[in-house]
Amino acid sequence: MNQAHVDQLLEFLRFPSISTDPAGKADVAGCADWLVGKLRAAGLKAKEHATAGHPIVVARNEHRPGRNTVVIYGHYDVQPVEPLAEWESAPFEPVIRNEVVFARGSTDNKGQILAHILGVAETLRAKGDLPVNLIFLIEGEEEIGSKQLEPFLAAHKDELKCDVIAVSDTGMVAKGVPTFTYGLRGVAAVELRVHGPAIDLHSGIYGGAVMNPALAVARLLATLHDAKGCVQVPGFYDEVQPLHDWERAAWQELPYGEKEILENTGVPQLFGEAGFTPLEQTWARPTAEVNGIGGGFQGEGSKTVIPREAFAKLTFRLVPNQRPAETIEKVRAYLESQCPPGVRIEVRAGHGGEPYLTDPQSAQGHAAQRALQRAFPGQKLALIREGGSIPIINTFKRILGADTLLLGLALPDCRAHAPNENFRVQESFVMARRAYCALLNRMGETA
Ligand code: BES
Ligand code: ZN
Repeated sequence: MNQAHVDQLLEFLRFPSISTDPAGKADVAGCADWLVGKLRAAGLKAKEHATAGHPIVVARNEHRPGRNTVVIYGHYDVQPVEPLAEWESAPFEPVIRNEVVFARGSTDNKGQILAHILGVAETLRAKGDLPVNLIFLIEGEEEIGSKQLEPFLAAHKDELKCDVIAVSDTGMVAKGVPTFTYGLRGVAAVELRVHGPAIDLHSGIYGGAVMNPALAVARLLATLHDAKGCVQVPGFYDEVQPLHDWERAAWQELPYGEKEILENTGVPQLFGEAGFTPLEQTWARPTAEVNGIGGGFQGEGSKTVIPREAFAKLTFRLVPNQRPAETIEKVRAYLESQCPPGVRIEVRAGHGGEPYLTDPQSAQGHAAQRALQRAFPGQKLALIREGGSIPIINTFKRILGADTLLLGLALPDCRAHAPNENFRVQESFVMARRAYCALLNRMGETA
């Protein structure tokens, strides 16, 4: 373990770069400045591009003709930290316990992107050059839908021209198991607001004569699924493609499944769409999730009130060939049709991203799998899809014309997006740096 590397990781993790928080703009910008400094120190030309949102950081080595051009994409923004009380140590004061660093962003995505940067820095120091033409593209809005990155890609299309994109923002099925992810779900965010009386009402004086918006939200949410976990929105499954037989069979053999999901989640029993295994449910089937619900009195004790409004924040995970905008329209029509009397609903569309599916047997896919295999010798490689979303990778294909290799090293117990997010120093961070060096060499060879 290289102490200087670990110190840099801790520094990176101390920036509270929460992209969704308007009050945190300066912290996010500070994090981008720090990255630029690191990339320059590594020997790259780095630039920070201001946007209407958070800055985009781009860095490159000296490009030479005849070599593969590789974009390494990652993000320096992180998810909000609430509920704060459930963290064992403060989210932006990283601590290492038993060789594991705990901090928001440690796995998703600072630890992984820094491992790439350190791998590049080391190769440049040792050899004076890289085997490829490299471009780092690191954004500050991945966790809020990459709004600024799309116009940025269009405006900088020529400078970002590449053969392939490498993204380390996905997971491994288990410690030490090389994992190649060939599909991700898409996402469509929706906010449901239910408006009732003009003002909050005394629930004794008016209760019984008006529809309660909080109850209306509950009733609407209860219409989303049937008892077997099937989404009830008409037409929701219309475009969904069936799973391939080979993947259903391969996923049965993985060292990850119901047992591990039970352990990692702490639920007494799993529940999902009938007729599919938990891996199929989370990797290859679409879902409707409630991410937040609110309205009315949230303080201690009780308050006899009928709130004037209530809300729920939803996301739908999508699989090929569902589309976010069309899904949101189906959801809107359904919720409006189910609206109880006496309230008015508003369905606001949020961010969206299309699902991603690629052929694991492509030439680039094979090269990446060989590199992963080399980094974890003697272990059977896992070919998987995953349930999370990285909306920008479809945009990469559309605007830059390049495929993406998903080479993440997040472990199933990393607690991404949750309290006590963590990254293993030796088994993940150090390993990642080595694996990514091997990968760059591989990509150089396939030019
Ligand atoms: N690293 C994740 C995506 C991910 C998670 C891929 C797990 C594979 C497995 C990424 O940072 C993320 O969390 N994305 C968001 C995107 C959304 C906010 C648009 C997600 O999936 O919720
Ligand atoms: Zn994330």
